[in-house]
Amino acid sequence: MPQKIIKTQTDFLLEKEELTHGDIVYLLQANQKERQKIFKRAAEIKQKYVGNKVYYRGLIEFSNICSKDCFYCGIRRSNKHTNRYLINEEAILQAVKFAHDNRYGSVVFQAGERSDKEFIELINRVLKRSKELTNNEIGITISLGEQTYEVYKRWFGLGAHRYLLRIESATQALYEQIHPKNKKHSFQERIKALRMLQKAGYQTGTGVMIGLPNQTYEHLANDILFFKDLGIDMVGMGAYIEHKETPMFEKKDSLLPLNERFTLSLKMIAILRIVMKDINIAAATALQAIDPLGREKAIKVGANIIMPNITPTVHRADYQLYENKPCIDEGADDCTGCLEARINLAGAEVGYGEWGDSPHYAKRIANNKH
Ligand code: 5AD
Ligand code: FES
Repeated sequence: MPQKIIKTQTDFLLEKEELTHGDIVYLLQANQKERQKIFKRAAEIKQKYVGNKVYYRGLIEFSNICSKDCFYCGIRRSNKHTNRYLINEEAILQAVKFAHDNRYGSVVFQAGERSDKEFIELINRVLKRSKELTNNEIGITISLGEQTYEVYKRWFGLGAHRYLLRIESATQALYEQIHPKNKKHSFQERIKALRMLQKAGYQTGTGVMIGLPNQTYEHLANDILFFKDLGIDMVGMGAYIEHKETPMFEKKDSLLPLNERFTLSLKMIAILRIVMKDINIAAATALQAIDPLGREKAIKVGANIIMPNITPTVHRADYQLYENKPCIDEGADDCTGCLEARINLAGAEVGYGEWGDSPHYAKRIANNKH
């Protein structure tokens, strides 16, 4: 006798046009069997809307000097046990050349937040020179924190076309628990900054940490709907990993075990892919810190961007936002050497030499919606 297939709540939700907050909360709690269905659906949607290519963004963490004091972050200003560095301009450009020579479509310039004139001018030069050096070919993403609208415009004009600024948590009360209470760490200012980035013309990326102390499924569902409401083009999100030299370390006993934070992160990626079909989703390095194959697992369930670390090796150990950060002993060559094979094993291929912009951005610009 043929077995009668009984549809579960998950099956129904995965067929819906639009997921509500309650639906997302439900899916986030899926057990192992139901989780596989979510992952499968996310993989189908990814294939259909963005294809099976993975794009590289060579990550250059060129300075850990930071004026902020986020409670979770290992390079926060108050951490006196960090060896502060700023990679010189020539070394940054060498890393750009490495990315271009290896046919990475783009680089990401990331650093602690600074807004002094000297820093802004350094970025001006680096952007300009990166374009010159690569025949205008290299795509440039920047992740340099909150700046003024004029500065965003300036950098956009000099060739940066994507900006990453994580909201960290889209729920104001939770955001305020993990940041000091002052204008420099204001939730409202952060949202304003994201809107300014969109207005300045950037493909705009944001993201959150998963597994924060006191974070609930409701908070995570808020995060996904926040990305959607804001019309964000790219998302990078990964597990929160505690760091000893930070105030939040004292909450470590209240956290989910690491493997559960990891699984929850994969669920977030898959559900986000189902909700926002045509955006770029990064497989965050923080996932690799928990599981050596973490990024490839994220690729399988909806992510399509990988940011191989190409920071000159000497300074890698100093850019520890969280502990156990992977690849800090390896040179860029070693990191990328076997990456392609692992990506292929995950059923994807590398989009060499392509910018790999999100289709969502092209549509947003065409509709001029945001
Ligand atoms: N664990 C995971 N991610 C972290 N970040 C900072 N500190 C941690 C941590 N302890 C993330 C933040 C920030 C990005 C650059 O790194 O989301 O936006
Ligand atoms: Fe804010 Fe590092 S100090 S994320």
